[in-house]
Amino acid sequence: MTSSSAQNNDDVLFFLAANPYICNSYGTATNPCRSHWRCVMADTLTILDNRTGKKYDLPITYGTIRALDLRQIKVNDDDFGLMTYDPAFMNTALCKSKITFIDGDKGILRYRGYPIEQLAEKSSFLETSYLLLYGELPTKSQHEEWVRNITLHTMIHENIKKLMDGFHYNAHPMGMLISTVGSLSTFYTDAKDIQSPESRMKQTYRLIAKMPTLAAFAYRHSVGRPYVYPDNNLSYTANFMSMLWKMTELQYQANPVLARALDVLFILHADHEQNCSTNAMRGIGSAHVDPYSAIAGAAAALYGPLHGGANEEVLHMLDAIGAKENVPAFVKDVKEGKGRLMGFGHRVYKNYDPRARVIKRLADEVFEVTGRNPRLEIALELERIALEDEYFIKRKLYPNVDFHSGLIYQALGFPIEMFPVLFSIPRTVGWIAQWEEMLNDPEQKIARPRQIYLGSDQRDYVPISKR
Ligand code: ACO
Repeated sequence: MTSSSAQNNDDVLFFLAANPYICNSYGTATNPCRSHWRCVMADTLTILDNRTGKKYDLPITYGTIRALDLRQIKVNDDDFGLMTYDPAFMNTALCKSKITFIDGDKGILRYRGYPIEQLAEKSSFLETSYLLLYGELPTKSQHEEWVRNITLHTMIHENIKKLMDGFHYNAHPMGMLISTVGSLSTFYTDAKDIQSPESRMKQTYRLIAKMPTLAAFAYRHSVGRPYVYPDNNLSYTANFMSMLWKMTELQYQANPVLARALDVLFILHADHEQNCSTNAMRGIGSAHVDPYSAIAGAAAALYGPLHGGANEEVLHMLDAIGAKENVPAFVKDVKEGKGRLMGFGHRVYKNYDPRARVIKRLADEVFEVTGRNPRLEIALELERIALEDEYFIKRKLYPNVDFHSGLIYQALGFPIEMFPVLFSIPRTVGWIAQWEEMLNDPEQKIARPRQIYLGSDQRDYVPISKR
């Protein structure tokens, strides 16, 4: 019995391109080669079901089989069919994507094919955002128009200020950001029209433009200072710094080295394919809700200490260690399972996170302006010892993006609570790019996993007096 699921033309084309030794007469998407059985069949997986003795041939494309192809594998007609069990999506591809490529073993990260190191060195955050969203680097005129469209949307409705005022004096800025970005859906009701590319584009401008404004207002609220309105004569990051730190001067003068460092940090954090918050964005967006509500959900996922909250935890950890000489004892505790070395390890990277390399270099430039962060010594010692330790080597635990980013953020003058907020601003671009890709993907539907039910079988309700 052979699987009935047909490969689409895209799959056949990919197979041909990946296996040129099999076929020299490459087909086209509409007219694939049919001369060789492997071109028609591509690779297959043969499964023998020992329960029934039946054999199944499932097509393999892009190194995957389709989970739904397993459904035909049944013991009898009443059987639901075989499923896969994959808690935490350890080995499940959710989508086909053309946005971000990661090779975790080699420590490679590329946006739309461009190595992250090149973008960090040569591009700007807004240019990289265009690249992520549109798939190509902009021409000069496209870039100018793009920057103008973002800059024109930096203001927020006055009522959002009132909403911000309602938060307690010590409210976490990430909680404020999540709530206020979600509230934007009540101001821009046209955002519900997610099937309209024009409407989606407008919400995209608004989101990229307003996230720094919301973030800065949340910060100003938490330190009890008056809100600073956007200054559209400044660059994206210089304007953000102005909204954060302007006092009575007429125009805020951002230090160019620090503004550039923030821009590079934004580039590094813009997208990271199917991470926890992006998965939340795709999952929530798959129900066709407006993008503000979906981004509030994605940002909530990012808030978690195992994801975007990790750099906050790194600083707490460095404070708890206190001094360089306490590092060996701390590492010993980690190895004994008494806690984790925050900022180390990654689900995908089993090598040095390429973003961490760029950030380490960036830290030197920032510290030249701001002076060294006193925790740097502890961090470097921790990194040195961990990278030489058998426990970390065996498990392929390397520093991730969060290990050094917190030190830079702190040197720039951000309180620890702002760290996940700083992550959310650039990641908004990645969330939108992935959301857009999902909505345009004809194979995507509302995300709805299955479960293995292990609870009670049917039983009758017992009145409370008889329990
Ligand atoms: N410190 C100590 N041990 C660790 C660490 C760590 N940071 N990370 C993983 N391990 C150990 C685990 O205890 C486990 O050991 P075992 O096999 O003896 O049980 C093994 O390494 C594998 O760990 P998992 O938890 O299975 O790895 P997973 O891929 O599920 O987790 C994660 C990845 C969540 C990032 C994890 O490494 C971690 O908690 N790191 C610290 C938090 C952190 O820095 N998060 C930021 C991630 S980057 C980002 O989101 C931007």
